[in-house]
Amino acid sequence: MQSPIYPQSDPVSEHPHIRTFHARHGRMSARREQSLILLLPKFEITNLERPVDLAKVLDKDFIVVDFGSGMGTHALQLAQSDPSVGVLAIDVHTVGLIAVVDTATELGLSNIRTHHGDGMDVLKDWMTPASVNEIHVLFPDPWPKARHHKRRLITPLFLDLVVNALKPDGRMVFVTDDESYFESAVTIIASCGNFDVTFSDWEIPITTYHQRAIRLGHKISQLSARKTNA
Ligand SMILES: C[S@@+](CC[C@H](N)C(=O)[O-])C[C@H]1O[C@@H](n2cnc3c(N)ncnc32)[C@H](O)[C@@H]1O
Repeated sequence: MQSPIYPQSDPVSEHPHIRTFHARHGRMSARREQSLILLLPKFEITNLERPVDLAKVLDKDFIVVDFGSGMGTHALQLAQSDPSVGVLAIDVHTVGLIAVVDTATELGLSNIRTHHGDGMDVLKDWMTPASVNEIHVLFPDPWPKARHHKRRLITPLFLDLVVNALKPDGRMVFVTDDESYFESAVTIIASCGNFDVTFSDWEIPITTYHQRAIRLGHKISQLSARKTNA
């Protein structure tokens, strides 16, 4: 069933940038449909006055964006383990965000919000500049075929938006099990010139795609790109 609140529109025609996600369609259980209609709007940042300063909205000093939060395990774990952190879980994946709002409601978490849609829009136009401490990009879609590389999230455009959103000492962490993606990301981030990059300084959270990578025996690579104040 299609959601009456979030119609399945064509993301390509709506967004001038290249789409970085797979469109997923499918039927939803009645229970999920209920959460979509009744719970998700309570967490969505869509209707907040822009620019959105999550530190003010959530009354937290430290803001983390989980960009492409999938089933939301990381965003939820972050919000639950540290109530002083404010978390924004972003994904186009409806079922994943429903899992986020179901669990956040069960646990009574007040420090987490969602965006159900293309996160590029959030970074482009919605956020107060220099208002985010960390942007976590965990196992983004690798788009392994060469002709699809243009759909990868880590591009100069995305990095410009990240730089704009991050606080002066903020950072982006990037984790992937796709070696060619990692190599290209390192090159693109270095040529952007706005980050100090370090490797392997972060305990990678166990997300759905992290578990998959372990199961498949893939090499997992990570980097932390801290914004420089040049
Ligand atoms: C491979 S999954 C990884 C999910 C999760 N981070 C994990 O580690 O399990 C990548 C996720 O990013 C989402 N995604 C990709 N591009 C996006 C975009 N521009 N805006 C929002 N979500 C996006 C996809 O829908 C998908 O759920």
